[in-house]
Amino acid sequence: MLQPLADALALPLLLLLVVQAPPLTGARPSPGPDYLQRGWLRLLAEGEGCAPCQPEECAAPRGCLAGLVRDPCDCCWECANIEGQLCDLDPSAHFYGRCGEQLECRLDAGGDLSRGEVPEPLCACRSQHPLCGSDGRTYAQICRLQEAARARPDANLTVAHPGPCESEPQIVLHPYDIWNVTGQDVIFGCEVFAYPMASIEWRKDGLEIQLPGDDPHISVQFRGGPQRFEVTGWLQIQAVRPSDEGTYRCLARNALGQVEAPASLTVLTPEQLNSTGIPPLPSLHLVPDEEVESEEGDDYY
Ligand SMILES: *[C@@H]1O[C@H](CO)[C@@H](O)[C@H](O)[C@H]1NC(C)=O
Ligand SMILES: *[C@@H]1O[C@H](CO)[C@@H](O)[C@H](O)[C@H]1NC(C)=O
Ligand SMILES: *[C@@H]1O[C@H](CO)[C@@H](O)[C@H](O)[C@H]1NC(C)=O
Repeated sequence: MLQPLADALALPLLLLLVVQAPPLTGARPSPGPDYLQRGWLRLLAEGEGCAPCQPEECAAPRGCLAGLVRDPCDCCWECANIEGQLCDLDPSAHFYGRCGEQLECRLDAGGDLSRGEVPEPLCACRSQHPLCGSDGRTYAQICRLQEAARARPDANLTVAHPGPCESEPQIVLHPYDIWNVTGQDVIFGCEVFAYPMASIEWRKDGLEIQLPGDDPHISVQFRGGPQRFEVTGWLQIQAVRPSDEGTYRCLARNALGQVEAPASLTVLTPEQLNSTGIPPLPSLHLVPDEEVESEEGDDYY
C-alpha cells in the first residue's frame, strides 16, 4: 500500500516518506528512549560493541568464589564479584563487574565521609543470618558459606541448619596469670563463644563457693559480646592480700557441655618485691596495658 503511493509522488516527498518508513512498516517494535540510551551506554562502556555471540569460543572461568555471571555482551560466563569487592551500582554499566548470587551492590557507608572519603559501591550479602555448615562450623551468612563451599568443592559443604551450630562453649580469650603487690586491684577476664549462650562462673581452687561469695573485696561482672554469641566475664579482687593467692577458674557452661580455664594470682608484699631486686611499681608491665584496656574498651555494641 505504501509502495504504489510513493511511486506516484515527487522526490522530496519520497525522501520524507523513506525517512519515516521504519515506524510505518511495523516489522519490529519501535525502539523506545530507554533502549536507545542503554545502547549508547553499552557502546561507551565497550568501545567497539559486542561481536556476534559464539559460545563455543568462550573461555571456561575457574575458581569463581561467588559463582558466574554473564559478561557485558551477555554472551560468555565470567566470575562474579565476591563480598567486599567493588561493583557497578548502575546495572547497565560494566566497569567493576557484577556481584554474585545472594549479593547486591551497595554504597559502603563504612568510610569516614567527614574526611572527604567517597563511599564506594561494594558487593554486600543480602542476608545477615548466621548458618551452621555441614562441616560443623558457624558461618556469618550464606555468602560466607557459599564462598567456603566453592573454595573447597570436594568438601561437599552444605547448610546443616539456619542459626549457629550448637556446641559446647569455647573460651576465646583465657584469663592470664597475674602477680601484683598487696593493696593493688587485679582483674581476670574470660571471653566465651557459645550457642546456645553460655553462662560464666568464677571459682577459686580450694573454696567450695561460687565467687564472689560474701567477700566484699571480690566482684564479678558479665556482659554480652564483644562478638555475636559471645559473653565476657570479669573477676575483680580489690586491694589484694597474700591470702588471695591461688588459682582462679573461669567456668563456661551451656546445655551441651562445660569448659574451664585457670589462671593464677601471686601476691607480693612490698618487702618481698624489694628483695627480688625488681624496681618498684609502676614501671613494671607484666600485664600489657592495651590488653587490659581492650577488655573494657569500646569493642562492644
Ligand atoms: C563429596 O561427594 C562425593 C560424591 O557424592 C563423594 O565421592 C566424596 O567422597 C564427598 N566428599 C566428602 C569430603 O564428603
Ligand atoms: C598492679 O595493679 C595495678 C593497679 O591495678 C596496675 O596498674 C599494675 O599494672 C599492676 N602490676 C602488675 C605487675 O600487674
Ligand atoms: C629495699 O631494699 C633496700 C636495700 O636493698 C633498702 O634500703 C630499702 O629500705 C628497702 N625498702 C623497703 C620498702 O623495704
